Amino acid sequence: MLVFHGRYQRFHMPEEFRIAKVKKVLAISRDQFPENFHWGVATSAFQIEGAVSEDGRKPSIWDTFSEQTGNILNNDTARTACDHYNRWPEDLDLVEKMGFNSYRFSVSWPRVLPDGRGQINAKGLDFYDRLVDGILERGLDPWLTLFHWDLPQALQEAGGWPSRDVASAFVDYAHVVSARLGDRVKRWATHNEPWCSAIIGYFNGDFAPGERDLGRAMQACHHILLSHGQALPVLRANVPDAKCGIVLSLHPIHPARDCDEDRSAVHRHDGLRNRWFLDALHGRGYPVDTLEALGPSAPHILDGDLAAIAAKTDYLGINYYFREVVTDAPDSVLPTRTRVVELDDVEKTGFGWEIYPEGLVELLTTVQNNYAPGPVAITENGAFFRDTMGSEGDVDDFGRLAFIQRHIEAVRTARARGVDVFGYFAWSLLDNFEWASGYDKRFGLVYVDFETQRRTIKSSGKWFANFLGRDHA
Ligand code: FCB
Repeated sequence: MLVFHGRYQRFHMPEEFRIAKVKKVLAISRDQFPENFHWGVATSAFQIEGAVSEDGRKPSIWDTFSEQTGNILNNDTARTACDHYNRWPEDLDLVEKMGFNSYRFSVSWPRVLPDGRGQINAKGLDFYDRLVDGILERGLDPWLTLFHWDLPQALQEAGGWPSRDVASAFVDYAHVVSARLGDRVKRWATHNEPWCSAIIGYFNGDFAPGERDLGRAMQACHHILLSHGQALPVLRANVPDAKCGIVLSLHPIHPARDCDEDRSAVHRHDGLRNRWFLDALHGRGYPVDTLEALGPSAPHILDGDLAAIAAKTDYLGINYYFREVVTDAPDSVLPTRTRVVELDDVEKTGFGWEIYPEGLVELLTTVQNNYAPGPVAITENGAFFRDTMGSEGDVDDFGRLAFIQRHIEAVRTARARGVDVFGYFAWSLLDNFEWASGYDKRFGLVYVDFETQRRTIKSSGKWFANFLGRDHA
């Protein structure tokens, strides 16, 4: 049993078994989706760019964290990562070649504002200017995320997300980026997965900055959501025709046992995991049961904060990977007194994450029924399996391919049930620096040989090319 479930469950099932169990391949077709559906791949700056001290970039909390021995599997660092900073034209060619019409990426805050605020690094901003032009030249729609976890180290030293000033620094950063790129980028996301940057970063400690303090984590979480709300009017002023949203990681939560204790555990767990974000963003404030459970660790909220957080968005981004099965656990370190349970006899990815595509249908219909958020995009979905390159230089990632197909099928089902899902993004374009797992966990549609930086489109990427009407990849 896990003491705390962040994202690193540890399962001990043999790899072959996990892969062998993923066998269903579906006959889905692009025609089952509207012509203007957004099909894309997603990446994030820190995970692919490398070039961490080139052209004036200064460290983010992830540079600092990954340089400390013991924080990252094999002590990997993202100093080079996929060298995307130098190889981006080739990488965008791959996106085009696989038939996608959209590309989701994030901007590195410390590349644009090395100290977090103040002096703009022209070369850093120029990089994204060229990247956006390159995206458009290939007929792709750019989906820009402002914050995918790489807080400038200088701002962490000034208190990090628990400090309210960081929210205002984020708004300035949003202004700088949107003023420069807003003539070409119309699809904006403020944050990627506040759960991870706040709770895993400041409470669970598995992620940068590696703190373990629930009160600071909840304050960080509040400021992240606040900064989202405060940045929206700035984005709209700079980009009048922008479509703005936020990206959440959401999970269906199910009881481990068929009993009242576990059913109420589900409600409590859902409060911290899902309702905390969805309620606040949809104008309901934070869930009262979760605030009570947090007690003295609840965040300080100023007048007007909740109204700012509830500012209207144009779409909701949902990252879906797995469900959580929970049990009542009075001794848990979580304020919800719940514990995530490992299931033995279920399909799992190489990460130990359960493969549960029906959860995506459940999640989408539940969010629709409870919040009516308007258009929804699946901004990330994907799987780690231990890929190997065959003797012909091919990477036959059948497990990932089946995973993706089954989730696309789930999107189709949710659409048929009336949920306005208008996009699906596979995580990820490239194998990359998978945070605390370093290079050990490959999620790409494209295999990266980290010694040579050679890219090879895997079977999953070739399938996409076919599915999306490209002859070959
Ligand atoms: C998501 C993150 C993304 C990647 C995938 C596997 O939570 O947004 O950067 O790590 O998980």
